[in-house]
Amino acid sequence: MRFPKLFQPGLVGSMEVRNRIIGSPMERNYCTAEGRITQRYIDYMEARARGGVGMMYTEATYVDPRGKGREFQMGLYDDDLIPQLERLVAAVHKHGGRVGPELNFGGRVVHPEVSGLESRAPSAVPYEGAGGWSPRPLDHASIAELVERFGSAARRAAEAGCDFIGIHGAHGYLLSQFMSPYCNKRDDGYGGDLAGRMRFPLEVIAAIRRSIDKDMPVVFRISGDEHQNNGLTLADVCAIAPHLVAAGVNLIDVSAGMYETNWWITQPMEMKQGVLAPLAEEVRKHVDVPVSVSGRITDPSVAEHLLESGVSDFVTLGRALHADPEFPNKARAGRLADICTCIACNQGCSDMHARGLPIVCLVNTTTGREREYAIRPAAAKKRIVVIGGGPAGLESARVLALRGHQVTVFERDHEPGGQLLLSRLVPGREELAGHLPWLVNEAMRAGVRLELGVDATAEIALAERPDLIIVATGSAPGLPAIPGIMDSPVVDPYEILRRPVGGIGRALVIGGGIRGVGVARVLAEKGIEVVLVDVARELATDIASRSRRFQVAALRERANVTVHLGTTVEALGEREAVLWNGQELTTLTAIDIVVPTRTLLPVTKVADELYSRDGMPEIFLLGDCVQPRTALEAIHDAAALGHRL
Ligand SMILES: Cc1cc2nc3c(=O)[nH]c(=O)nc-3n(C[C@H](O)[C@H](O)[C@H](O)COP(=O)(O)O)c2cc1C
Ligand code: SF4
Repeated sequence: MRFPKLFQPGLVGSMEVRNRIIGSPMERNYCTAEGRITQRYIDYMEARARGGVGMMYTEATYVDPRGKGREFQMGLYDDDLIPQLERLVAAVHKHGGRVGPELNFGGRVVHPEVSGLESRAPSAVPYEGAGGWSPRPLDHASIAELVERFGSAARRAAEAGCDFIGIHGAHGYLLSQFMSPYCNKRDDGYGGDLAGRMRFPLEVIAAIRRSIDKDMPVVFRISGDEHQNNGLTLADVCAIAPHLVAAGVNLIDVSAGMYETNWWITQPMEMKQGVLAPLAEEVRKHVDVPVSVSGRITDPSVAEHLLESGVSDFVTLGRALHADPEFPNKARAGRLADICTCIACNQGCSDMHARGLPIVCLVNTTTGREREYAIRPAAAKKRIVVIGGGPAGLESARVLALRGHQVTVFERDHEPGGQLLLSRLVPGREELAGHLPWLVNEAMRAGVRLELGVDATAEIALAERPDLIIVATGSAPGLPAIPGIMDSPVVDPYEILRRPVGGIGRALVIGGGIRGVGVARVLAEKGIEVVLVDVARELATDIASRSRRFQVAALRERANVTVHLGTTVEALGEREAVLWNGQELTTLTAIDIVVPTRTLLPVTKVADELYSRDGMPEIFLLGDCVQPRTALEAIHDAAALGHRL
């Protein structure tokens, strides 16, 4: 077997697990407002159990409505919620998986506007992201009540047939708020030194242990380092872990970060795979129970290496399974190229979650829609031409071909991928293009005929005698309407990315979205002086928030880049630009090139040509040629159309 360590059965307490893969807890926003599990949730979990995961958590599950953080989060605060959990457990057991909740109470980071209730925490340390509300410090009676709430929720999970109880002691929620000196300012028995700060988590473990069978394993998730001044450090966690074990914990699951440092929780593509390994490896030296490690493990070889090198006993995979529920089965069978790999974009999952929306996935449109998007053979098989082999064109073609349609894709370039290919050239964003090999392979496997290097005209498309035509010709950079732009040395941003120009002293980049930042970084790395101007107040707002900070920092640290935000370009000349920052006009001189990056124009030439003729088959437009947006929207619109036709 290719990954012997990964697929070796393991033990958590006395619970046998069929392999070393733990499905991460992930809040999905798939529940009802009162926290009840839905069919959508069950379908999602069942797909992952069928895909071969060893054991998996549901998600951070509030034990009391005051600790609810998201509108559609899972709750387990009432016996009425047991039956749906029971159905979920049965669905997972049917496929040999193990499952349990991750009991949680939000505390200072939950927004009172979500729960409609006041937030409570160890101390009145507000969190700006939760509206800056000051949480009410918990008094002793409320602490005792909450401890019991954890116990009752564990009892409910056990009654529903769960295999283990997970406890959320990570990411800056209530248990870690008690443990972390950053959040716990108490001077009573629940604060102060480590023993005081650990009292609440230990009481919670004891209450849970009292409420469940003694053989039922308890798993504790902890941030190995909060990466925050005065927050929990690795040394603290190594001191805490043995006490958790002594209190009855059977596995320590090492994550990292807190809300203030949330890029450590859900690491973006700018961070490397397995980045939390050093934390888990150290914690493992201090306990005699298994340890698991999470954090951007998307390649089975990386997972195997972590186990083989003694970093951990299990690996906890979140987004890898979100992107491909069959990850374990495919890895086990050595079908690595078939894995739909998470590219750590955070757009479909993390960002949706933060917005209170049901999470989806950029690379896998079926995630979270397992029932709705199950492949159904088309009632009438059609001959379909797709013009444009970018993400939208390919995804629609893949789905349509799976449903039995006969699909031909015409792509102008000699390599499919459209704009997604360009991300290979933007520092730190290379992984986005990593989705293309899977998408192309799956489309071809489904029977799509892919014609590369064909700039399809109406004639070429119609020569196929299609029943319908999908136009997915994408977008192209356009010129913003700035006085004098026609006389200025304008250069196409995509040309800069494809063929970096030389012999240039100074470049003016207009627009600070990811295209502008990427172009500026590429030019700056060539030693060119770059002036980047954007009317917005923040850079790279068009990518996931956790990626943004890395892109912005990388740009800002370059001495040859100057950034002017809140600034407009009022006029351009042959070598100069007039800038306005709301207070004064300044003139920038000696500009060699001007690179406008904000404006994208839908490319509709073929569509217009087709529409201008009589007797055309049905025509659908998809992706950026409808409206330039991100790959997430393009791919999801494509899947929706593919399942409908
Ligand atoms: C949408 C989303 C929701 C998450 N919800 C939880 C949660 O409920 N509890 C938790 O401990 N971690 C949560 N996490 C963090 C993940 O469990 C995991 O630790 C993180 O995504 C890094 O691991 P990965 O690269 O395998 O995804 C969430 C992550 C995402 C992307
Ligand atoms: S949306 Fe992006 S980060 Fe989230 S699982 Fe899918 S590919 Fe990974």
